[in-house]
Amino acid sequence: MTELSGKVALITGASRGIGYGIAEALVARGDRVCITGRNEEALKEAVEKLGADRAIGVAGKAHDEAHQAAAVERAMEAFGRVDHLVNNAGTNPVFGPIADLDLNVARKVYETNVISALGFAQKTWHAWQKENGGTIVNIASVAGVAPSPFIAAYGVSKAALINLTGQLAHEFAPRVRVNAIAPAVVKTKFAAALYEGREEEAAAGYPLGRLGVPADIGGAAAFLTSDQSAWVTGQTLVLDGGIFLNAGVS
Ligand SMILES: NC(=O)c1ccc[n+]([C@@H]2O[C@H](COP(=O)([O-])OP(=O)(O)OC[C@H]3O[C@@H](n4cnc5c(N)ncnc54)[C@H](OP(=O)(O)O)[C@@H]3O)[C@@H](O)[C@H]2O)c1
Repeated sequence: MTELSGKVALITGASRGIGYGIAEALVARGDRVCITGRNEEALKEAVEKLGADRAIGVAGKAHDEAHQAAAVERAMEAFGRVDHLVNNAGTNPVFGPIADLDLNVARKVYETNVISALGFAQKTWHAWQKENGGTIVNIASVAGVAPSPFIAAYGVSKAALINLTGQLAHEFAPRVRVNAIAPAVVKTKFAAALYEGREEEAAAGYPLGRLGVPADIGGAAAFLTSDQSAWVTGQTLVLDGGIFLNAGVS
C-alpha cells in the first residue's frame, strides 16, 4: 500500500465512472478520499474497493445543501482536512432540442450541475481551504465548450460550470487553484447511450482512435490537484482524444 500523502480529497458522485476513476488515481498516490453518491450500497462497495482505511462515503444528492454540509463535516471529522474538492456529480436527464424543453427540467439540470458545485466549493472554502489552501477541479464537458445540439440543456449548464471555475479561481486565489476538465465521451454508464453497440463507429471520429476511460480523467485530475500544476488556475483542460481537431475545414 502506498504511503499516505497527508492530503485529503472530497469527490462528489464517485461510486462509479469518472468520479471513481479520480478517486482511484488520488488514492494510488496516497491521498485519503471522501466520496459521495445517492445509492448507499454502491457507495459502500466503492469504499471497500478503494480501501476502508483510505476512503469514506457520504450518501446524498449533490444539490442538497444539508448533504453538502454533512459531506464536508464528515471529511473534516474523519481526516481533519479537505485539501482538494472535485465537483464531479452531474446529470443529463434530457436529449434533443431545447425549443420546447420543460423549464423545470432545465432548472434541475442547472441545480445539479452548477449550483451543487458552488455549494460544495463554499463549504469546503469555509471549512478548510480559506485558511489552508488547496485545489478545486470541476468536471465539465466538451458540450460546455462548443454547442452540442443533442445535449443542449446539459451543455448550457456545463458552460456555466466553466465560467464558475474562472470566477472561483479569481476569488479564491492565491491560496486555492480552481480548474475544470472538459471530457468528450468517456465509457461510463452515464454515456452508454452514445456508444453502446456501436463503439467502433463512435471511436472512429477520434484522432486517438478510442473513447475515453475513467482513468484518463483520473490522471488529469491528479495533475490539477498536485504541485505539478502549481501555476495553473482558471483553466479548462479539454480531454477529447483529439476530436476537436476535426473542427477545421478540409
Ligand atoms: N461519461 C462521459 O462521457 C462524460 C463526458 C463529459 C462529462 N461527463 C461528466 O462527468 C461526470 C460523471 O459522469 P460519469 O460518466 O462518470 O457518470 P456515471 O458513470 O453515471 O457516474 C455518476 C456518479 O455520480 C453519482 N451521482 C449521479 N447523480 C448524482 C447526484 N445528483 N448527486 C450525487 N451523486 C450523483 C452516481 O451514483 P448514484 O447514481 O448512486 O448517485 C455515480 O457515482 C458528470 O458530471 C458528467 O456530466 C461525463
